[in-house]
Amino acid sequence: MISIKSEKEIQKMREIGKIVAQAHEEIKKHVKVGVTTKELDKICEDFFLSHGCNCSCKGYPQGDPNPFPATACISVNDEVIHGIPSDRKLKDGDLVCIDIVADKNGYFGDATRCYVVGNASETAKKLVQVAEKSFWEGIKYAKEGNRVSDISHAIQEYVEKNGFSVVREFQGHGIGTEMHEDPGVPNYGKSGRGPRLTAGMTLAIEPMINAGLPDVFVDDDGWTIYTEDGSLSAHYENTILITKNGVEVLTILS
Ligand code: MF3
Ligand code: CO
Repeated sequence: MISIKSEKEIQKMREIGKIVAQAHEEIKKHVKVGVTTKELDKICEDFFLSHGCNCSCKGYPQGDPNPFPATACISVNDEVIHGIPSDRKLKDGDLVCIDIVADKNGYFGDATRCYVVGNASETAKKLVQVAEKSFWEGIKYAKEGNRVSDISHAIQEYVEKNGFSVVREFQGHGIGTEMHEDPGVPNYGKSGRGPRLTAGMTLAIEPMINAGLPDVFVDDDGWTIYTEDGSLSAHYENTILITKNGVEVLTILS
């Protein structure tokens, strides 16, 4: 079931969205050669806790024998998503994607930023740019009356036009009183399919794109997703609100 948020709920979505955006601004200052992904995770966690939020990813899903053990998902180079923070130090040329989710007053915000560290390859830089731009291309279609897959199609078209591929196994999602709500929002497919977009829907739109083939696999840790061919991967994400006049991006500071 797709939930339509009331004005009161939207205020809470805006509040958590802003905190998630601010957390990214804070983390970004520390993304440098030599920092460990665990240190970045700690900065994120401290930020969320000091802003009265729960770290939604830590211990998710509840009751799972192998829940996600950290606050931030930090995925480097050929890691696509759900990388577990560790003592790994970022190196010159690394591509790092940081995916963070927090909840406050019962409402969730979800956003991912991707960076290249130091002197990266042209491919790495372009991949990061295309992932981000594909989000904006997609949300041009995020308006009342359009269908979910209009967003999906626009993302895929833009990514493939730029010579990269779209991961199929993971997708964007509704978000609100839970991290993952209906509808699923694939990053590929024909336009004109899926539920109609309506004012009051809140969605996490999150293209995951690879420099090589789209195929991925799960690591033995049960979380980290890698590209099958070892190629670089990038991820970009924001929580958005469909409005009467278009779209509002909740996880970007205005
Ligand atoms: N932002 C991710 C998502 O949209 C985070 C979920 S993975 C978690 O699905 F387990 F760490 F929470
Ligand atoms: Co998400």
